[in-house]
Amino acid sequence: MEIQKQLKSHGAWIGKWTFILAATGSAVGLGNIWGFPYKAGTNGGGAFVLIYLACILMIGVPIMIGEIILGRSSGNSPINAMRRMALASNTSSSWQIIGWSGITAGILILSFYSVIAGICFNYILISATSSGAMSASDQFSEVISSPLNLLFWHTLFMVMTALIVSAGIKDGIGRMVKILMPMLGLLMIFMVVYSMINGNFSQAMSFLFAPDFSNVDANTFLQAMGQAFFSLSLGMGSIMAYGAYMPKDQNVVNTSFTVASLDTLVAVLAGLAIFPIIFAFNLEPGTGPGLVFVSMLTAFNQMTFGWLIGPLFFTLLSIAALSSSISLLEPGVAFLSEEGYLSRKMAAELLSLFIWILGFGSALSFNIWSDFNLTPGRNFLDSMDFIANQILLPLGGMLIAIFVGWFMKEQIIKDELGQINPTVFKLWKFFIRFIAPFSVAFVFVSQFF
Ligand code: PHE
Repeated sequence: MEIQKQLKSHGAWIGKWTFILAATGSAVGLGNIWGFPYKAGTNGGGAFVLIYLACILMIGVPIMIGEIILGRSSGNSPINAMRRMALASNTSSSWQIIGWSGITAGILILSFYSVIAGICFNYILISATSSGAMSASDQFSEVISSPLNLLFWHTLFMVMTALIVSAGIKDGIGRMVKILMPMLGLLMIFMVVYSMINGNFSQAMSFLFAPDFSNVDANTFLQAMGQAFFSLSLGMGSIMAYGAYMPKDQNVVNTSFTVASLDTLVAVLAGLAIFPIIFAFNLEPGTGPGLVFVSMLTAFNQMTFGWLIGPLFFTLLSIAALSSSISLLEPGVAFLSEEGYLSRKMAAELLSLFIWILGFGSALSFNIWSDFNLTPGRNFLDSMDFIANQILLPLGGMLIAIFVGWFMKEQIIKDELGQINPTVFKLWKFFIRFIAPFSVAFVFVSQFF
């Protein structure tokens, strides 16, 4: 049987915290710091936050537990993990499609994620040197109108991502997240304290947390669930790939709760860092993709220590993006290198080269290709985003829930979960079998109506 062939091992992470830091690094990204506050704000504030929390608990955490079980039990990248687990459960090896769709989603997401993250890099410099003579929105237009500028920063970001992933699990990703995540935590707390003192904190609190159920409709649920999925990095194998390097003695359920809590905490803290400043400077909270760049630069231009706080803030955003981008690249690199044809370094270089070129389309969609639609009504970047986040991730997540809930051998699951409270196990089983697949199917289908 094909799976019997010897696959190359990637090594494992040592210590309790490395997996938690890496998985949290993957989860916390542009999605949290920009996406969550903005979506909470436009979807009824506190009501959205409540629904989002319910999605994290009822769909996100059960699927995350499933992904970690699949990854750790097999010790392989998502494609081989699914193949191996399907065979071990006496079912069709076609389940490996989950791995293929995940790697495809990772490639598509990273191609545009890197362009946006490149803009964050660029803003470290801009916010340090901006005199305020040019308005922040003109500044943003200038940044995105230059293909060369966008490509330069996109290139830098892709090179950094590739370097970290090619250095391997222990020396690359493991070591980097141990430095990056505490830095991110400290910067985050600093920004929140700064905003509490200098911004309009009470208005931000009521904007984010006062539940306004009058604005809640079906779309609120869709948005909250999509955000929960993307934010926890689920449905594409990132967490599965990282699970393969998780020590066997670590508790899967507790770890999943920790990662989900940290991810949610950062999203909430990001809201508490950004909105007080937006309100203090009378800026518009719901402006879309430019929000973080235009609003925050406007604020930094007017602040006494803006030249210092600005670069700190955009460094934070870049770090969050980098610890996510490495998890987007890892499943593909792990697959190519474990097959034994390519070294990890070669695999990381080749795949990054491909993603880098694909990213040109997204960079150009801000300027010379802005009128070019790849899918109906969507430019290149929006098409990548749509195919990955609205099709591949939900489908991947749903299939993972169905496989783990209905097809996977119970003994394998029990071995991975270890000593577990029988009620917790029953609850998880119920959520992964029924609640998660049906909710995802509902969301998936309703977006097309
Ligand atoms: N979770 C990351 C964010 O919130 C994005 C991501 C999605 C990373 C899927 C890996 C896999 O920005």
